[in-house]
Parts: sequence; structure tokens; C-alpha cells
Amino acid sequence: MNAEKTFTSLMGELDYPMFIVTTVGADGERAGCMIGFATQISIDPPRFLVGLSEKNRTYRVARRAEHLAVHFIPADGEDMAELFGSETGDDVDKFAQCAWHEGPAGLPILDDLPNWFAGRILERVERGDHQAIFLEPIAAEREADEQELTFHRAKRIEPGHAP
Ligand SMILES: Cc1cc2nc3c(=O)[nH]c(=O)nc-3n(C[C@H](O)[C@H](O)[C@H](O)COP(=O)(O)O)c2cc1C
Repeated sequence: MNAEKTFTSLMGELDYPMFIVTTVGADGERAGCMIGFATQISIDPPRFLVGLSEKNRTYRVARRAEHLAVHFIPADGEDMAELFGSETGDDVDKFAQCAWHEGPAGLPILDDLPNWFAGRILERVERGDHQAIFLEPIAAEREADEQELTFHRAKRIEPGHAP
């Protein structure tokens, strides 16, 4: 196997938590999608890294945004994973199909996902088909002790935009 194929198969075996990222553009447009490319990237100061596919509407809206909200998906949160992972905001209004409220910096906060943080966008780096977005947490809520929904359960979902 060549390096690229082996790399892809190594990555495909990993299990990692899924998140739903939401944002609001300068013009008030809302967007959100499920992501697996996400990790804490610094402890002090706290920093988080999100990878957004340039195909997604969320990426396009995030280009005109200053903040992202990152929601943890509980193990029983498959309905929300399905809505935000298999539908695209180019075709449907996801926010008309779930409960949400306006949170810090006007971000849409999803009522069904009680653990989340809001992050200010510090930097964006383009090195492939996903944009790396570095976040500084500015607000956070932890209202539930829960197991997270992970990639191996979420990967059966057909992405709203092909990766
Ligand atoms: C298992 C799984 C993992 C995904 N990981 C990411 C990701 O890390 N980054 C991303 O931008 N999209 C990811 N997606 C794709 C988006 O969630 C999906 O294409 C969504 O429908 C895009 O919605 P939008 O066009 O409204 O932004 C993933 C989808 C699935 C099913």
C-alpha cells in the first residue's frame, strides 16, 4: 500500500467524538453542520481546532463570521447528527427543524445539545479541502454528564455535501 492509502485506512479505524458547529454571518445568516475534524489544540491558553469542508454551506457562512459554537453530541443524539450531518443548508432550513436560541455573539445554540462552547475565530488556515479554524473559547455550558456520539456510529450518515 502507498502512504496515502495506508494513512486513509489508519484514520478510518480511529474513533473520535462528533460535534455540531453552528455560526452566524455578519448579515445574520445562520448555518451549521456536524464535524469530526475537531480537537483541543492548546491547554494554556485554551484553544480548539475545527476543520470545515470548503464544500459546506457552513464553511461559506463561517467565512463571514467571527465566532463558532461547538456543540457536543450525546450518544443518543442521532436525530441531531442526522439533521446536521446529512442535510445541507443549501437545500433545507435546519434551524426550522430543531429548537435553538440566540447565545453569545448571536450564535445559534441548539437546545437539544446541553454541552457546548462558543469560540472566537483567531485564525484560518487553508492547506487542503478543509479549512482549519482556530478558536478561543469565550463562553461555555456544561449541563449534562454524557457519553458522546462517536465517528464509528456517525459514519453511516450520508453527508449532505460529499466530502
Ligand atoms: C461522519 C461524518 C463526519 C463529518 N465530518 C465533517 C468535518 O469534519 N468537517 C466538515 O466540514 N464536514 C463534515 N461532515 C459533513 C457535513 O456534516 C455535511 O456535509 C453537512 O450536510 C454539511 O451541511 P451544510 O452544507 O449545511 O454546511 C461530516 C459528515 C459525517 C456524516
